[in-house]
Amino acid sequence: NAMFSWQRTSFHFQPQKNWMNGPYLGESHLVGCAADPNGPLFHKGWYHLFYQYNPDSAIWGNITWGHAVSSDLIHWLYLPLAMVPDRWYDINGVWTGSATILPDGKIVMLYTGSTDESVQVQNLAYPADLSDPLLLDWVKFDGNPVLVPPPGIGLKDFRDPTTAWIGPDGKWRITLGSKVNKTGISLVYTTENFITYELSDHYLHEVPGTGMWECVDFYPVAINGSNGLDTSVNGPGVKHVLKASLDDTKVDHYAIGTYFVSNDTWVPDNPKEDVGIGLKLDYGRYYASKTFYDQIKERRILWGWINETDTEADDLAKGWASVQTIPRTVLFDSKTGTNILQWPVEEIESLRLTSNSFTDVVVEPGTVVPLDIGTATQLDIFADFEVESSGSKETGNDISGCGDGAVDRNKFGPFGILVLADDELSELTPIYFCTSNAKTYFCADETRSSKANDVFKQVYGSQVPVLDGEKYSMRVLVDHSIVESFGQGGRTVITSRIYPTKAIYGAARLFLFNNATGVTVKATLKIWQLNSAFIHPFPFDNIQG
Ligand code: FRU
Repeated sequence: NAMFSWQRTSFHFQPQKNWMNGPYLGESHLVGCAADPNGPLFHKGWYHLFYQYNPDSAIWGNITWGHAVSSDLIHWLYLPLAMVPDRWYDINGVWTGSATILPDGKIVMLYTGSTDESVQVQNLAYPADLSDPLLLDWVKFDGNPVLVPPPGIGLKDFRDPTTAWIGPDGKWRITLGSKVNKTGISLVYTTENFITYELSDHYLHEVPGTGMWECVDFYPVAINGSNGLDTSVNGPGVKHVLKASLDDTKVDHYAIGTYFVSNDTWVPDNPKEDVGIGLKLDYGRYYASKTFYDQIKERRILWGWINETDTEADDLAKGWASVQTIPRTVLFDSKTGTNILQWPVEEIESLRLTSNSFTDVVVEPGTVVPLDIGTATQLDIFADFEVESSGSKETGNDISGCGDGAVDRNKFGPFGILVLADDELSELTPIYFCTSNAKTYFCADETRSSKANDVFKQVYGSQVPVLDGEKYSMRVLVDHSIVESFGQGGRTVITSRIYPTKAIYGAARLFLFNNATGVTVKATLKIWQLNSAFIHPFPFDNIQG
């Protein structure tokens, strides 16, 4: 559908379009909607991504597991569907699940099935042939389901099992989300064989008022150091991140705390910043995320789903919906001690082409400065800002958020960049800082991102810690209709799904702006053009001859 072709991204993973079938692929896939990342894992040279996928339509339904592999998390090859709804226990959908790699190398996949009566149950599946690097065939366990909703839990409130971790007693644990009245909870089960399970008499955690918890994620982070941790690691020097996707608000919230394996409970470091009432993983358009441990590069990698904000009619017309974020590494921020750091995987750098550097560009109050970089649709932007000191800072307005967007001026800001803008500035998306004497917010303003009026346009953002001696710094990935923005090294992250109609292809530009009324800022930037990633059906024909 040429009408919307500029909205296709060039280096983000998204569902295949016009994928005509080869001999191994079954029916043709002309359209598709891809949602939650499922069961990510690394096996025999390939990163595997599964995802909630509707092969028949660009809107949610008929949920199967789409499957793709990559050797570098950037270039992807679509594979045939991994699992389809074909049993009574998943006939209404093969829903979200997670992989666990056992010490002997076996792979266990646990996923939620929606049964013939739309009850949510947990099912076990495993690869038919572990020696197949592509893991093409998946066997559903004969004794499924392995878990049904326990007493007191709603039949439709029991889903999305995590990767398992093993305790010092040799038992595996999984957790999955639910709710009791309006309290969001995560249930813990122990198992020795992934077939029979025992429900813990404690919740891992609960937070009143947060509603149904979907896609719970639970993992350790090292208090110091630059490596990720495998899911079972615990002990001194380790904290645990608990993440829940809040069904009521469609936001991924996390908190940092301590896991007590003795009774399988987790306690937040700061009860005021508990799961669902504090930090968000991403302040933009982002949901149903999941991490996995990459045993090759010793890092924890986070995937998230960028859902659409246009109408279903437009999604049907363009024939596809939803994009996955660039995978991000996750580390504990030892400088602040209060947040995680998210950062695009280093492999994204392999897409870098030419670059432009700008040093100490002066941006006067109330001005916009064009950055002459040529095409501005596929970029990796690093920008640092210094605010000229203008006497005492204490005269600055106090601010309490991103306001009504980048047009909301005060003495010290906002300032930042305008991405996916056209020459006339009839479309633009400001990514910026708002700062006062007390705090700084990192923001993305979608309100002028598109001339189209049937798309949802919001001002997104949150406070970001800026420590003494630090410049204001951002990294921004631009990919046609997706902007992923990382403030202060990934302390605050905002994903934008936008629908430009003018700022497309060769007409897209990049600018600096400073909307402060009282201060000049100096910007230093390095901007790379990014190549497109290779994302295609796996070339079975070529290989099989
Ligand atoms: C989250 C979610 C999960 C569920 C899946 C169904 O987006 O609702 O809770 O398993 O999607 O597609």
